[in-house]
Amino acid sequence: MGKSREIRKVVFGTDQRDGAGVRLVRVLGPETTAEFDPFLLLDAFDSLNPDDYVRGFPWHPHRGIETVTYLIQGEIEHGDSLGNSGAIRDGGCQWMTAGSGIIHQEMPQASPRMLGLQLWVNLPAKDKFAKPQYRDLTTAAIPRAAEESGTVTVIAGRYHQTEGATQGDYVKTLLLDVALRPGAAWSLPTDPEATLFVYVVEGSAAFGDSATRVKAKRAALFGEGDELRANAGTEGVRFVLFAGRPLREPIAWGGPIVMNTQEELDQAFDELKAGTFLR
Ligand code: CO
Repeated sequence: MGKSREIRKVVFGTDQRDGAGVRLVRVLGPETTAEFDPFLLLDAFDSLNPDDYVRGFPWHPHRGIETVTYLIQGEIEHGDSLGNSGAIRDGGCQWMTAGSGIIHQEMPQASPRMLGLQLWVNLPAKDKFAKPQYRDLTTAAIPRAAEESGTVTVIAGRYHQTEGATQGDYVKTLLLDVALRPGAAWSLPTDPEATLFVYVVEGSAAFGDSATRVKAKRAALFGEGDELRANAGTEGVRFVLFAGRPLREPIAWGGPIVMNTQEELDQAFDELKAGTFLR
Protein backbone atom coordinates (compact mmCIF):
# COMPACT_ATOMS: atom_id res chain seq x y z
CA MET A 1 0.00 0.00 0.00
CA GLY A 2 1.14 3.49 -0.79
CA LYS A 3 1.35 6.46 1.53
CA SER A 4 -2.16 7.76 2.01
CA ARG A 5 -2.81 11.35 1.14
CA GLU A 6 -4.55 13.03 4.06
CA ILE A 7 -6.72 16.12 4.00
CA ARG A 8 -4.62 19.25 4.50
CA LYS A 9 -7.40 21.76 4.19
CA VAL A 10 -11.13 21.99 3.47
CA VAL A 11 -12.23 25.02 1.48
CA PHE A 12 -15.81 26.33 1.45
CA GLY A 13 -15.54 29.12 -1.09
CA THR A 14 -17.56 32.34 -1.10
CA ASP A 15 -20.81 33.36 -2.80
CA GLN A 16 -20.06 35.86 -5.52
CA ARG A 17 -21.48 37.44 -8.63
CA ASP A 18 -19.35 37.65 -11.73
CA GLY A 19 -19.77 38.34 -15.43
CA ALA A 20 -22.99 40.29 -15.98
CA GLY A 21 -24.38 39.06 -12.66
CA VAL A 22 -24.00 35.29 -12.49
CA ARG A 23 -24.32 33.81 -9.02
CA LEU A 24 -21.56 31.37 -8.29
CA VAL A 25 -19.41 30.00 -5.51
CA ARG A 26 -15.75 30.95 -5.91
CA VAL A 27 -14.08 27.94 -4.40
CA LEU A 28 -10.51 28.83 -5.39
CA GLY A 29 -9.17 32.25 -6.26
CA PRO A 30 -6.21 34.62 -5.86
CA GLU A 31 -5.77 33.79 -2.16
CA THR A 32 -5.43 30.04 -2.73
CA THR A 33 -2.86 30.02 -5.54
CA ALA A 34 0.15 29.08 -3.41
CA GLU A 35 -1.41 25.91 -2.06
CA PHE A 36 -3.37 24.88 -5.15
CA ASP A 37 -0.68 25.65 -7.78
CA PRO A 38 -1.05 25.00 -10.81
CA PHE A 39 -4.80 25.57 -10.34
CA LEU A 40 -5.78 29.23 -10.11
CA LEU A 41 -9.52 29.41 -9.88
CA LEU A 42 -12.50 27.15 -9.38
CA ASP A 43 -16.03 28.47 -9.74
CA ALA A 44 -18.97 26.21 -8.89
CA PHE A 45 -22.44 26.69 -10.35
CA ASP A 46 -25.55 24.97 -9.07
CA SER A 47 -28.90 26.60 -9.61
CA LEU A 48 -32.51 25.74 -10.33
CA ASN A 49 -33.26 29.42 -11.05
CA PRO A 50 -32.24 30.75 -14.49
CA ASP A 51 -32.24 34.32 -13.06
CA ASP A 52 -29.06 33.29 -11.26
CA TYR A 53 -27.11 32.78 -14.48
CA VAL A 54 -28.79 33.80 -17.78
CA ARG A 55 -27.05 37.20 -17.81
CA GLY A 56 -23.93 35.17 -18.43
CA PHE A 57 -20.40 36.23 -19.15
CA PRO A 58 -20.53 38.57 -22.17
CA TRP A 59 -17.45 39.20 -24.33
CA HIS A 60 -14.29 39.33 -22.22
CA PRO A 61 -10.60 38.58 -22.73
CA HIS A 62 -8.27 35.97 -21.27
CA ARG A 63 -4.51 35.56 -21.50
CA GLY A 64 -1.95 33.32 -19.83
CA ILE A 65 -4.30 30.56 -18.65
CA GLU A 66 -6.52 27.69 -19.70
CA THR A 67 -10.19 27.75 -18.76
CA VAL A 68 -11.85 24.37 -18.35
CA THR A 69 -15.63 24.38 -18.14
CA TYR A 70 -17.17 21.08 -17.09
CA LEU A 71 -20.92 21.17 -17.26
CA ILE A 72 -22.64 18.29 -15.50
CA GLN A 73 -26.11 19.59 -16.29
CA GLY A 74 -27.32 22.55 -18.31
CA GLU A 75 -26.31 24.39 -21.45
CA ILE A 76 -23.77 27.15 -22.08
CA GLU A 77 -23.61 28.86 -25.45
CA HIS A 78 -20.29 30.31 -26.36
CA GLY A 79 -18.38 32.09 -29.06
CA ASP A 80 -14.78 33.29 -29.36
CA SER A 81 -12.39 35.45 -31.34
CA LEU A 82 -11.02 32.38 -33.14
CA GLY A 83 -14.41 32.03 -34.80
CA ASN A 84 -15.60 29.09 -32.71
CA SER A 85 -19.17 28.99 -31.51
CA GLY A 86 -21.46 26.33 -30.16
CA ALA A 87 -22.75 24.99 -26.89
CA ILE A 88 -21.49 22.96 -23.97
CA ARG A 89 -24.22 20.55 -22.89
CA ASP A 90 -24.93 18.01 -20.12
CA GLY A 91 -21.70 16.18 -19.37
CA GLY A 92 -19.60 18.12 -21.87
CA CYS A 93 -16.37 19.99 -21.25
CA GLN A 94 -14.79 22.95 -22.97
CA TRP A 95 -11.03 23.08 -22.67
CA MET A 96 -9.84 26.48 -23.79
CA THR A 97 -6.23 27.56 -23.99
CA ALA A 98 -6.32 31.34 -23.84
CA GLY A 99 -2.53 31.47 -24.32
CA SER A 100 -1.49 34.73 -26.02
CA GLY A 101 -5.06 35.98 -25.96
CA ILE A 102 -8.62 35.18 -26.73
CA ILE A 103 -11.87 37.12 -26.41
CA HIS A 104 -14.93 35.03 -25.77
CA GLN A 105 -18.38 34.95 -24.27
CA GLU A 106 -20.03 32.25 -22.18
CA MET A 107 -23.79 32.44 -21.94
CA PRO A 108 -25.64 29.83 -19.83
CA GLN A 109 -29.10 29.06 -21.19
CA ALA A 110 -32.19 28.56 -19.03
CA SER A 111 -32.43 24.88 -18.11
CA PRO A 112 -34.02 22.81 -15.32
CA ARG A 113 -30.71 22.85 -13.44
CA MET A 114 -27.35 24.37 -14.14
CA LEU A 115 -24.66 22.35 -12.43
CA GLY A 116 -21.04 22.69 -13.34
CA LEU A 117 -17.57 23.99 -12.67
CA GLN A 118 -15.06 26.29 -14.26
CA LEU A 119 -11.42 25.65 -13.51
CA TRP A 120 -8.51 27.88 -14.48
CA VAL A 121 -5.26 26.05 -15.05
CA ASN A 122 -2.19 28.26 -15.04
CA LEU A 123 0.15 28.17 -18.02
CA PRO A 124 3.91 27.83 -17.45
CA ALA A 125 5.80 31.11 -18.08
CA LYS A 126 7.24 29.68 -21.29
CA ASP A 127 3.75 28.92 -22.59
CA LYS A 128 1.91 32.11 -21.57
CA PHE A 129 1.87 33.17 -25.22
CA ALA A 130 0.96 29.76 -26.63
CA LYS A 131 -1.37 29.69 -29.60
CA PRO A 132 -4.98 30.08 -28.43
CA GLN A 133 -6.90 26.86 -28.79
CA TYR A 134 -10.36 25.68 -28.07
CA ARG A 135 -11.41 22.09 -27.57
CA ASP A 136 -14.97 20.91 -27.36
CA LEU A 137 -15.01 17.63 -25.42
CA THR A 138 -18.51 16.31 -25.93
CA THR A 139 -20.04 13.73 -23.64
CA ALA A 140 -19.45 11.11 -26.35
CA ALA A 141 -15.73 11.99 -26.43
CA ILE A 142 -15.26 11.58 -22.67
CA PRO A 143 -14.65 7.96 -21.63
CA ARG A 144 -16.20 6.37 -18.56
CA ALA A 145 -14.95 3.46 -16.51
CA ALA A 146 -17.71 1.46 -14.84
CA GLU A 147 -16.64 -0.38 -11.70
CA GLU A 148 -18.20 -2.17 -8.77
CA SER A 149 -17.71 0.90 -6.59
CA GLY A 150 -19.20 3.32 -9.11
CA THR A 151 -18.37 5.18 -12.30
CA VAL A 152 -15.31 7.24 -13.11
CA THR A 153 -15.54 9.73 -15.96
CA VAL A 154 -12.09 10.49 -17.34
CA ILE A 155 -12.11 14.04 -18.67
CA ALA A 156 -8.35 14.50 -18.64
CA GLY A 157 -5.35 12.33 -17.86
CA ARG A 158 -5.47 8.61 -17.42
CA TYR A 159 -7.36 6.37 -15.04
CA HIS A 160 -5.97 2.82 -14.96
CA GLN A 161 -6.41 1.66 -18.58
CA THR A 162 -8.71 4.50 -19.59
CA GLU A 163 -7.20 7.44 -21.45
CA GLY A 164 -9.04 10.69 -20.90
CA ALA A 165 -10.42 12.95 -23.59
CA THR A 166 -7.26 15.09 -23.26
CA GLN A 167 -4.00 14.96 -21.31
CA GLY A 168 -3.49 18.70 -21.03
CA ASP A 169 -0.99 20.13 -23.52
CA TYR A 170 0.86 22.42 -21.10
CA VAL A 171 0.11 21.20 -17.58
CA LYS A 172 -0.51 17.47 -17.51
CA THR A 173 -3.83 17.40 -15.73
CA LEU A 174 -5.83 14.64 -14.15
CA LEU A 175 -9.51 15.54 -14.12
CA LEU A 176 -11.94 12.85 -13.03
CA ASP A 177 -15.63 12.90 -12.20
CA VAL A 178 -16.03 10.14 -9.61
CA ALA A 179 -19.47 8.81 -8.64
CA LEU A 180 -19.42 6.20 -5.84
CA ARG A 181 -22.24 4.07 -4.53
CA PRO A 182 -23.31 4.46 -0.90
CA GLY A 183 -20.59 3.10 1.40
CA ALA A 184 -18.24 2.22 -1.47
CA ALA A 185 -14.48 2.28 -0.91
CA TRP A 186 -12.28 3.58 -3.71
CA SER A 187 -8.60 4.32 -4.07
CA LEU A 188 -6.36 5.87 -6.65
CA PRO A 189 -2.60 5.82 -7.06
CA THR A 190 -1.53 9.45 -7.50
CA ASP A 191 1.58 11.23 -8.73
CA PRO A 192 3.40 12.12 -5.47
CA GLU A 193 4.62 15.37 -7.03
CA ALA A 194 1.16 16.55 -8.05
CA THR A 195 -1.11 18.95 -6.21
CA LEU A 196 -4.30 17.00 -5.56
CA PHE A 197 -7.74 18.20 -4.53
CA VAL A 198 -11.38 17.21 -4.89
CA TYR A 199 -14.60 19.18 -5.06
CA VAL A 200 -17.61 17.31 -3.68
CA VAL A 201 -20.60 17.91 -5.94
CA GLU A 202 -23.19 15.77 -4.17
CA GLY A 203 -23.31 13.44 -1.18
CA SER A 204 -20.31 13.10 1.09
CA ALA A 205 -17.18 11.03 1.55
CA ALA A 206 -14.35 10.44 4.00
CA PHE A 207 -10.84 10.67 2.56
CA GLY A 208 -7.57 9.16 3.69
CA ASP A 209 -7.51 7.82 7.25
CA SER A 210 -9.94 10.45 8.53
CA ALA A 211 -13.45 9.40 9.51
CA THR A 212 -14.75 12.95 9.04
CA ARG A 213 -16.81 13.27 5.92
CA VAL A 214 -16.36 16.08 3.46
CA LYS A 215 -19.80 17.33 2.54
CA ALA A 216 -21.17 18.60 -0.75
CA LYS A 217 -20.01 21.99 -2.08
CA ARG A 218 -16.66 21.78 -0.37
CA ALA A 219 -13.18 21.27 -1.72
CA ALA A 220 -10.52 19.23 0.05
CA LEU A 221 -6.81 19.69 -0.60
CA PHE A 222 -4.58 16.73 0.14
CA GLY A 223 -1.09 16.53 1.57
CA GLU A 224 1.80 14.43 0.38
CA GLY A 225 1.51 10.78 -0.51
CA ASP A 226 0.95 8.58 -3.48
CA GLU A 227 -2.51 7.16 -2.90
CA LEU A 228 -5.91 8.72 -2.38
CA ARG A 229 -8.52 6.70 -0.49
CA ALA A 230 -12.18 7.59 -0.44
CA ASN A 231 -15.13 6.07 1.42
CA ALA A 232 -18.52 7.19 0.21
CA GLY A 233 -21.13 8.24 2.75
CA THR A 234 -24.49 6.54 3.17
CA GLU A 235 -26.02 8.55 0.32
CA GLY A 236 -23.09 7.94 -2.02
CA VAL A 237 -20.87 10.68 -3.36
CA ARG A 238 -20.00 12.49 -6.53
CA PHE A 239 -16.77 14.43 -6.56
CA VAL A 240 -14.54 15.94 -9.19
CA LEU A 241 -10.84 15.23 -8.71
CA PHE A 242 -8.06 17.52 -9.92
CA ALA A 243 -4.33 16.81 -9.99
CA GLY A 244 -1.35 18.49 -11.63
CA ARG A 245 2.26 19.31 -10.82
CA PRO A 246 2.84 22.81 -9.41
CA LEU A 247 4.60 25.39 -11.58
CA ARG A 248 6.17 27.35 -8.68
CA GLU A 249 6.35 30.56 -10.72
CA PRO A 250 5.40 34.11 -9.75
CA ILE A 251 1.78 35.05 -10.38
CA ALA A 252 0.50 38.47 -11.46
CA TRP A 253 -3.28 38.26 -11.59
CA GLY A 254 -5.48 40.93 -13.14
CA GLY A 255 -9.08 39.80 -13.51
CA PRO A 256 -9.30 37.47 -16.54
CA ILE A 257 -5.57 37.71 -17.26
CA VAL A 258 -2.89 35.88 -15.30
CA MET A 259 0.76 36.51 -16.08
CA ASN A 260 4.05 36.29 -14.18
CA THR A 261 4.85 39.99 -13.71
CA GLN A 262 2.98 43.28 -13.25
CA GLU A 263 4.72 44.55 -16.38
CA GLU A 264 3.16 41.76 -18.43
CA LEU A 265 -0.25 42.56 -16.95
CA ASP A 266 0.13 46.28 -17.77
CA GLN A 267 1.13 45.34 -21.29
CA ALA A 268 -1.97 43.14 -21.70
CA PHE A 269 -4.32 45.90 -20.54
CA ASP A 270 -2.52 48.49 -22.72
CA GLU A 271 -3.00 46.15 -25.69
CA LEU A 272 -6.68 45.73 -24.87
CA LYS A 273 -7.08 49.52 -24.92
CA ALA A 274 -5.15 49.86 -28.15
CA GLY A 275 -7.02 47.02 -29.83
CA THR A 276 -3.82 45.00 -30.35
CA PHE A 277 -4.53 42.31 -27.75
CA LEU A 278 -5.21 39.48 -30.17
CA ARG A 279 -2.10 38.18 -31.87
CO1 CO B 1 -14.08 33.43 -19.76
